[in-house]
Amino acid sequence: MLHRRTSLSSRVSRFLSTSCFRRHENPLGLPKRPPPPQMPRRGGPIEKRPIPNVRKVVAVASGKGGVGKSTIALNLAFALALRKNQQTQAPLRVGILDLDIFGPSVPTLMGLQNAGEPELTSKGAILPLTNHGLPCMSMGFLLSSSTGDNTDTPIVWRGLMVQKAVQQLLFDVDWSKEGQGLDVLVVDMPPGTGDVPLTLGQLVSVDGSVIVSTPQDVALSDVRKGIAMLRKVSVPITGLILNQAYYLCPSCESHSPRYLFGKPDNFHKVAERLQVPVLGELPLVEGVSASADGGFPYVLSSIATVEKTDGSGGLAWWTNMAQVAEHVASSLSL
Ligand SMILES: Nc1ncnc2c1ncn2[C@@H]1O[C@H](COP(=O)(O)OP(=O)(O)O)[C@@H](O)[C@H]1O
Ligand SMILES: [Mg+2]
Repeated sequence: MLHRRTSLSSRVSRFLSTSCFRRHENPLGLPKRPPPPQMPRRGGPIEKRPIPNVRKVVAVASGKGGVGKSTIALNLAFALALRKNQQTQAPLRVGILDLDIFGPSVPTLMGLQNAGEPELTSKGAILPLTNHGLPCMSMGFLLSSSTGDNTDTPIVWRGLMVQKAVQQLLFDVDWSKEGQGLDVLVVDMPPGTGDVPLTLGQLVSVDGSVIVSTPQDVALSDVRKGIAMLRKVSVPITGLILNQAYYLCPSCESHSPRYLFGKPDNFHKVAERLQVPVLGELPLVEGVSASADGGFPYVLSSIATVEKTDGSGGLAWWTNMAQVAEHVASSLSL
């Protein structure tokens, strides 16, 4: 039996209201369940545990905002879902968890910004929302507004509440998907090296991470910090992606790439110095941005459509993303 949606919505909005009594222990106001693992005290043992009903976890991260993490996380998830399980040959079962508490973009990218709030199971777990056949969960679904569109609702939380909300999003979502569970959960990370990546890295056995950068030196320096932090909490680095690496003008005579944000030389030097493989270089493509805003993952477009609308740049983006998914799948033994 499912509890009505309003119960979760009213709990969260009551919590967000400034006049209410705020408790750190249960920011999402979920019904009582066994306690999630606690953040280790300084010097204490690190207690990592699996996410229920999830076989493998891969995080898409970067030290910096606006470099394309969410776009890549979403398209990577769908590119993985188009692949088969190496053992059973069944299509991979994939989910997306948006851990960008302060700037969730998965609801928009999934075309679910007006989908309403998730329902709860009788045991008090949150049920993911699904579109294009893929389940997802995001803080953005848990913020209610009178219009039903949550995109403009800000969230103002302190560190402890963030940690607890992340714990609930990690351990209180029901990914069982009619008993089968997920082969892989793709986690869209917030920018920076703050509470969220730390909480994820300390509490969950993460199987891999894809680090996104753009060619600019500022982005690269943040990437170095991000990688150092993930390594500190033993999150394996699967590889780097250089996003917005170049532009191929579909309607120009010249077909040579334009390096709008600088040549990729520094990026390759950083990758080499850090001994991290480069998974792909994705061009800047108009259709990628437009389809993200439209809630439709670019990888679900056919190659013919991609080539027609975005020319060789679209084709390069599409094939590179498929290769990234292949690399991730093989490195995680999916
Ligand atoms: N390769 C690309 N080509 C065109 N637009 C892109 C590309 N990568 C990202 N974008 C756009 O850049 C903006 C920021 O991307 P987003 O995925 O939200 O970044 P982040 O999650 O790192 O903050 C979005 O408008 C997105 O559509
Ligand atoms: Mg994002």
